[in-house]
Amino acid sequence: MNHFEDRGGALHCEDTPLARIAAAVGTPVYVYSRATLERHYTVFREALIMAGLGEPLVAFAVKANSNVAVLRTLGDLGAGADTVSEGEIRRALAAGIPGERIVFSGVGKTRREIAFALEAGVSEINVESEPELKLIAQVAEELGLRAPIVFRVNPDVSAGGHAKIATGKAENKFGVSFEEATRLYANASNNPHLNPLGVACHIGSQITDMVPFEAAFRRMRGLVESLRAEGMTVERLDLGGGLGVPYFDAPDPPSPAEYAAMIGKVMAGLDHIRFAFEPGRVIAANAGVLLASVIHLNTRPEGRRFLVVDAAMNDLIRPAMYESFHDIRPVATTSETPVACDVVGPVCETGDTFTRDRLLPPLGPGDLVAFMTAGAYGAVMASEYNSRPLVPEVLVDGDRFSVIRRRPTYDEMLAAEAPADWQ
Ligand code: LLP
Repeated sequence: MNHFEDRGGALHCEDTPLARIAAAVGTPVYVYSRATLERHYTVFREALIMAGLGEPLVAFAVKANSNVAVLRTLGDLGAGADTVSEGEIRRALAAGIPGERIVFSGVGKTRREIAFALEAGVSEINVESEPELKLIAQVAEELGLRAPIVFRVNPDVSAGGHAKIATGKAENKFGVSFEEATRLYANASNNPHLNPLGVACHIGSQITDMVPFEAAFRRMRGLVESLRAEGMTVERLDLGGGLGVPYFDAPDPPSPAEYAAMIGKVMAGLDHIRFAFEPGRVIAANAGVLLASVIHLNTRPEGRRFLVVDAAMNDLIRPAMYESFHDIRPVATTSETPVACDVVGPVCETGDTFTRDRLLPPLGPGDLVAFMTAGAYGAVMASEYNSRPLVPEVLVDGDRFSVIRRRPTYDEMLAAEAPADWQ
């Protein structure tokens, strides 16, 4: 459930007409619903608690939506942050999320980033490889600290909405094997600068089927039990993110309640464990839309209709990158007969096509459309390609809204560049 709905023929975000935001801020613009973020976080967390998983650390995957106001909205509810760079840790801290609720993951953490994370007092650093483990131990020793580490294992399970976002197969670059995890855990337990807390996995994103999750989680439980049988202390089990959302073209994915109940069943009787989760999309995707205006409708002599909008692949890259589907809704609803058109942006690439042959009511210059389910992996993946200023973001709360990232001016866009010394 989300808070984008038609009221009296006008698409609203909560109690705010989207047309009001477009008039005040211009388009393209991302619009997020505070109430939807809260609802998704609360539903996810409560489902886990109901399933008997104690008080989990729900660390929102910052990569899905890293706006500081969005992070603050979630952080104020008690959410943690799953981060993959110093920049993301800084964003989480700037949003008031304390180090003890921050998870630091990622396959290529630099020495500087590890030091920054340790000094910020993060809750766990998810170790992805043996060389990384050595580097973490070294940095912790130099700083005179003990690094809280969790081994990310690769459960060799195939899952995810698209090959580019599946992470849990042995051939992917993520995590260590179960055998390595056992050996490295034992080594780390003997190092005074390392504090091995537990194990983690993350098998992919936009997963709409419970089977791969269950297979991976059973293997994780087995790993915890075998590590304990060898005398090691395991107190943290991080089950990653990955739960899919409906993009309106596919069967509904499992609900957080079904997902949590399955985990409750798989983990029944496993004591003295704090569970951690790293959900991104399931919290943020349906809490945001990309609002755009029609520039013109170009009807070709042979009949193909191109609806050219002022948002482009640089603002929302998912359709170009993953062939992903986003529902497109006119902001002013009409009962006119829909017609098939291709929705495209102004960028000079054929790939700048959001969809082909989509049935939409007749639309013309100045009409507003909303790309739905764009709150995750939308603004964060935007660029200035074609020298288009970065798309702004707005957060709605009831009938008020606030610009939480403003549109840069052209001067700001050019400010970091300079002629070469010899020019
Ligand atoms: N934890 C780790 C270690 C991850 O790599 C990811 C996502 C997450 C958590 C969050 O997964 P989620 O709950 O959002 O599925 N740009 C792509 C998605 C890439 C996901 C990468 N990792 C897209 O637009 O579909």
